[in-house]
Amino acid sequence: MTCRKVSIALFCLLAVSRLYLQPRYSLISDCDETFNYWEPLNLLVRGFGKQTWEYSPEYSIRSWAFLLPFYSIIYPLNKFTELESVYNFYITRMALGLLSFIAEFQLHTQIKKSLSHRVANIWILFQIFNPGYFHASVELLPSSVAMILYLFSIKYTLRYLSTNQSASFTKSLTFNFIAGILGWPFVLVLSVPLCIHYVFNHPIIGSIRTAFDCTLMLLIVSVIVIGTDSAFYGKFAPVSWNILFYNVLNASEEAGPNIFGVEPWYYYPLNLALNFPLPVLFFSVIGIFHIRLWPLWLSYITWFTVFILQPHKEERFLYPIYGLISLSAAIGFSKLLTFSKLFKVLKKILKLITMTVIILQAVSRIVALITNYTAPLDTFSELYGIGPQGEKNIEVINVCTGREWYHFPSSFHLPDGYRLQFIKSGFDGLLPGNFKESVPLLETVRTIPEGMNNLNLFDPNKIIELDECTYIVDMVQHANSDVDVFDPVKEMESGAWKPLFCNHIIDVDHSKILGRAFYVPEKIASFIERKIGKFWNSVYGVQFVDYCLFERAEVSPEEPSSIPL
Ligand SMILES: *[C@@H]1O[C@H](CO)[C@@H](O)[C@H](O)[C@H]1NC(C)=O
Ligand SMILES: *[C@@H]1O[C@H](CO)[C@@H](O)[C@H](O)[C@H]1NC(C)=O
Repeated sequence: MTCRKVSIALFCLLAVSRLYLQPRYSLISDCDETFNYWEPLNLLVRGFGKQTWEYSPEYSIRSWAFLLPFYSIIYPLNKFTELESVYNFYITRMALGLLSFIAEFQLHTQIKKSLSHRVANIWILFQIFNPGYFHASVELLPSSVAMILYLFSIKYTLRYLSTNQSASFTKSLTFNFIAGILGWPFVLVLSVPLCIHYVFNHPIIGSIRTAFDCTLMLLIVSVIVIGTDSAFYGKFAPVSWNILFYNVLNASEEAGPNIFGVEPWYYYPLNLALNFPLPVLFFSVIGIFHIRLWPLWLSYITWFTVFILQPHKEERFLYPIYGLISLSAAIGFSKLLTFSKLFKVLKKILKLITMTVIILQAVSRIVALITNYTAPLDTFSELYGIGPQGEKNIEVINVCTGREWYHFPSSFHLPDGYRLQFIKSGFDGLLPGNFKESVPLLETVRTIPEGMNNLNLFDPNKIIELDECTYIVDMVQHANSDVDVFDPVKEMESGAWKPLFCNHIIDVDHSKILGRAFYVPEKIASFIERKIGKFWNSVYGVQFVDYCLFERAEVSPEEPSSIPL
């Protein structure tokens, strides 16, 4: 096959993945995405949603400008069609997938010009079979959007490094500014090595002129974003600055990111090993020795080092360099293929084996994430199919969740008139509250909500009583009666609540690490189990529990309820 034909096949695969498979099947890997991004977007579109302390004007460390592009895509949908609101969720994800597809297509073209067609194709292959990118690229998170926008930045960096055009340098920086100011301020660090490269390779007067252009671009982006956010919050609101201030400059033991947990240094290497096929990580280390592109690799290494040194670690903090990891891997792999003096046939076989390992590891991980963790998305959206559809003017219907609060996907999964509420559980941190409803949008945004703090301290007003709930979502597993007010197993036995609809979710406590992380087809799994049963079960055993939507059983006082056994 020629390179061109391979490219066409890869792009078909890429399109299917980014535009259909990921929007439809990918999981929500972090509740921060739900409460800090999907909920405010739901507020913009439908007038209600959960509010986190970050959106309190007192702190204002989340950007409304970030949500506006998505709002402008789904607004017409809500205005002119009668689609169920859950489609907003999928269409927003498709928009993200499309943005990623465009960025990847353009970067592919540039790699082809600057390096070679083969490297470009390998890069796309590594992007497709990449479990981390699979979920990251359709997550409504600033770090995801920054990850995608940074691909444009890499494109212009490559063009600048291979043509020495100042205009490309400026464009690269501009995309990084958008990623940083609109998305996540820390990604600005990624452009520092490029600036060093520029200054060292240009006479001082040229550097000053370019610095002027870049500052102008930075100003334009900042004015638009800060202007928008200030208009929303009704006061000067430099969100990026506030994030930096809260997370870095004014961070302390009592406040700042560390109160949300700290992880050891090997958290990131392990996390990468789950999110990237192992051969890709290996090639990625080799690729760094392609010295001509050192500014990119310096960004890569700096990013990794800075985040390993931070005590508070999260998977999404590495998203912005995902594109770089697969780029250096593609270069490394291509280098290995060129340098090895092996026979042609042997080389072909090795290549085939490597590709197979990469594809198998990636698919196994992606399928595991989908089968193990996506039950909440389907369970909540079942509400569209049952009961009377709530209307705006009738009483609201409370859908409650306790210990499973962090698996709630988004209010787009609830029909109009339904609201998510929390009931008492073992969680003793700060839960999100409700955006003020039935007042003009700007009033909602600008009102300082009660009971918010940046210390993750519990606020009792965020929870409601069990008897105010019409539905409850929970796992069918005994709860801790000391802290949880709802125990699904007991409630089902007594007949007070009955499950309406269930999906399977992995039982993390009773499953082994490999089984949680990777999917093995049933037939193969049972074959291995027959061969090495004990060992296999100790590393792979997976168990699922039912993840159900419960409804209060209607019991008339005269006749005792029959208990289904
Ligand atoms: C790149 O262009 C600048 C002028 O714009 C020139 O001074 C510099 O020597 C060039 N660098 C290379 C490696 O060609
Ligand atoms: C900075 O942190 C200190 C201690 O954590 C806190 O008392 C102070 O209010 C913070 N400053 C601002 C402006 O938030």
